[in-house]
Amino acid sequence: MKDLATLREVLKDKTAEEGLAFFSDQKELVVKFSSSLGAEDQAITSIIANLKLNIEIVTLDTGRLFQETYDLLDVTRVKYNIDITSFSPQGEAIETLVSNKGPNSFYLSVDNRKECCHIRKVEPLKRALKGASVWVTGIRSEQSANRQLMDSVEWDEQHQLIKYHPLFHWTQAQLDDFINKHRIPVNGLHQKGFPSIGCAPCTRAVEKGEDPRSGRWWWEGAAKECGLHEVKQ
Ligand code: ADX
Ligand code: SF4
Repeated sequence: MKDLATLREVLKDKTAEEGLAFFSDQKELVVKFSSSLGAEDQAITSIIANLKLNIEIVTLDTGRLFQETYDLLDVTRVKYNIDITSFSPQGEAIETLVSNKGPNSFYLSVDNRKECCHIRKVEPLKRALKGASVWVTGIRSEQSANRQLMDSVEWDEQHQLIKYHPLFHWTQAQLDDFINKHRIPVNGLHQKGFPSIGCAPCTRAVEKGEDPRSGRWWWEGAAKECGLHEVKQ
């Protein structure tokens, strides 16, 4: 595989479609896309499906998602006639966590919240990415101060693979246009003030103009990353 600097150069002027197609065409690579069914991820799924790219789509079913998210998973599989491989947390780990600390331990401390995110997201992601050499995500730079410090192509030390964010430089307006133009199904919660959607107990609506990620783990301050993505600041 080419080094990061070369890759950045190759991808520099490519659109999201061209960038995804580039990775899909590299026969020596195993490319996986993790979708949370968020608006960004739906745009990427539509590209992968419409261009019939050689990119596996995986999702992490934490067991605590909104019903609207599960509904959208169904709609998306049927509309695009695609497989979305679902990864669940390890049953025993959930049983131990809930038996020892109850179902809502994440509200009690940051450590508890990280423990839950680890069991429900981080560990399943490790299994989901097994064998992958490239991990595609829906991250956009605009989403947070932390994400502005990222790059559209990165080396992920934890999983030892290339991480690629094809929509990294897209604005919210660009994303909205793309979704409208291609009639892409999105989560009904977006219209109800949820720009960023994670687990139901840990996501709430935000006011217009508020930081789009402020509805995630709103009772905590600062970083707002759950362990899937590196905190850069
Ligand atoms: S999170 O880390 O805070 O949950 P966010 O919801 O902004 O992240 O999503 C950023 C990217 O992380 C998504 O575009 C997706 O690639 C990945 N991701 C987040 N949650 C999931 C999930 N439940 N399943 C699969 N991928 C996910
Ligand atoms: Fe647990 Fe909340 Fe993290 Fe979901 S977002 S894994 S419910 S702490």
